[in-house]
Amino acid sequence: MPDLIQLSDRSDVTPGLRRDLVDCWVQVTRGGGAAGFPFPPVAENDLAPVLDALIARLRPDRERLLVALHGTVPVGWAHLSRDPNPLIPHWGAVNHLQTLPTHRKRGVGTALMNHARDVARDEMGLRRLHLSARSGMGLETFYERLGWREAGRWAKALPPAPDGTLDGTVHGGTLDGGTLDGGTLDGRTLDGRTLDGAPGEVLMVLTPL
Ligand SMILES: CC(C)(COP(=O)(O)OP(=O)(O)OC[C@H]1O[C@@H](n2cnc3c(N)ncnc32)[C@H](O)[C@@H]1OP(=O)(O)O)[C@@H](O)C(=O)NCCC(=O)NCCS
Repeated sequence: MPDLIQLSDRSDVTPGLRRDLVDCWVQVTRGGGAAGFPFPPVAENDLAPVLDALIARLRPDRERLLVALHGTVPVGWAHLSRDPNPLIPHWGAVNHLQTLPTHRKRGVGTALMNHARDVARDEMGLRRLHLSARSGMGLETFYERLGWREAGRWAKALPPAPDGTLDGTVHGGTLDGGTLDGGTLDGRTLDGRTLDGAPGEVLMVLTPL
């Protein structure tokens, strides 16, 4: 099991740690991982400003970075945030989950996701989490094993692949064991957004925890 640390203030992020997080993101993306920049090639200069913006926004009640360490070396990380919309302050999102290609299948991703759920519920007071995952990469299976359920699927939710074949999926769930209540679960709309009715797209309810 990796050690897990949290960064909830920009002063928590040393220059060395920042470099390691960028390097991880570059390696993950170059390896074909969809952690925010799904279509390589990417350069450090593409990713570093995005990470810096995340770091600048860190606040315990709003945004945190969760980092998995092997020894002192970061081997994976994820970003946890509260929805900025004041009407839904109990909603949160997990973004950019990633594990270094050299450290996959050792429980790092699982540990980060479980930690994200605990921190969201117990420390940030969130009651519902979302994440977006690119379909066609087997990620649904990974998240479903962790208790997440597919809540919707529609075309063009994420930037399309150059060949236009990859669509986004959104997973969501309540943190108190309740039902997902934000959408009309008739397969047509979710949270006010109209679903693309492409064949094979599905909407599922989640009560993950
Ligand atoms: C998804 C990811 C974070 C998982 O990290 P990890 O540290 O390997 O996760 P774990 O070791 O906890 O894996 C748990 C299980 O999920 C499986 N799994 C992981 N990624 C998977 C994927 N993309 N498709 C199917 N199964 C996957 C593993 O095979 C493992 O199964 P096993 O225990 O039967 O061997 C990692 O594959 C990754 O960084 N991918 C690229 C970035 C990405 O796609 N991020 C998701 C953003 S939505």
